Amino acid sequence: MRGNPDTSERPGSPLLVDRFGRVATDLRVSLTDRCNLRCTYCMPAEGLDWLPKPDLLSDDELTRLIGIAVTRLGVTDVRFTGGEPLLRPGLDDVVAATAALDPRPRISMTTNGLTLAKRAAGLAAAGLDRVNVSLDTLDPERFHRLTRRDRLADVFAGLAAARDAGLAPVKVNTVLMRGVNEDEAVPLLRHCLAHGYQLRFIEQMPLDPQHGWNRDDMVTAEEILASLRTAFTLTPEPGERGGAPAERWLVDGGPAVVGVIASVTRPFCAACDRTRLTADGQVRNCLFSRSETDLRALLRGGASDEEVAAVWRGNAWAKAEGHGIDSAGFSQPDRPMSAIGG
Ligand code: 5AD
Ligand code: SF4
Repeated sequence: MRGNPDTSERPGSPLLVDRFGRVATDLRVSLTDRCNLRCTYCMPAEGLDWLPKPDLLSDDELTRLIGIAVTRLGVTDVRFTGGEPLLRPGLDDVVAATAALDPRPRISMTTNGLTLAKRAAGLAAAGLDRVNVSLDTLDPERFHRLTRRDRLADVFAGLAAARDAGLAPVKVNTVLMRGVNEDEAVPLLRHCLAHGYQLRFIEQMPLDPQHGWNRDDMVTAEEILASLRTAFTLTPEPGERGGAPAERWLVDGGPAVVGVIASVTRPFCAACDRTRLTADGQVRNCLFSRSETDLRALLRGGASDEEVAAVWRGNAWAKAEGHGIDSAGFSQPDRPMSAIGG
């Protein structure tokens, strides 16, 4: 069903409202486009052309923008992403500054977990509430083939450290790929249940820099659920899904749950509550936006907080109805996922 866009002028709301009645309250902040893995669906072996250092927001610029989002624009949730956010030198300070905001937002991070074992306790002390760790396989050789690095043991250690530091619930993100790891849905769920992690499968989206994504190769939510049902009983978790992208299922009657994020086959754009900030200070109202709004230039040009807030509101107002991955006119964004933030 198509929503009716509001074609009138933007109302006077201070919030990040759009023409389809949505309100963005969840800010994703990419702290760096660099990464210490080279997941095949995300980066070529040689890496990408990293953003030049002067283009990156400084820690002060970052915390100022997060502050504007939280105190003027109604953002209630801040998630740090990358690239790999643990590679950002000032991460603990940025987390602490975010936790000091009033009202204090919920603070989470999406990480590949490689160096989390060393960092989890410090980040929890700085104010980080939760983590999502990416893990696509339990097999060290496959991990090496998939990420081009031999670091699976580090991810396991990182996950355990996150749990021990109270960064709960510790969530695991898995992308299943045909002919690569599609046979691991059941073992991955068993592993997460045994260790007290909450597993979520994410349908692969067309965000790879190689532009090699193919709809028919994608392992769909339907297939993932069918595969899980060979070993577990899944019943829909009672209650409202709200803006949360994951459809959640009770495993064998609960209380354990598994999530499936059907970004492509069952898009949740109508309930989207996100706004995104790239490491170089561009605001995007969608992963798949064709355009960005340059907040860094405003900051460096001496704009006031309220001027920055007004421009951010304008970016939100212009948000499209949906990503249209399944429609004929779809074209992939120019920037890959690692530069936008997951
Ligand atoms: N589609 C879906 N998920 C992706 N990720 C990276 N690229 C894609 C893609 N094209 C996942 C990573 C990580 C999070 C940041 O997004 O596996 O869990
Ligand atoms: Fe790094 Fe995440 Fe991309 Fe893998 S998917 S290369 S962990 S940014």
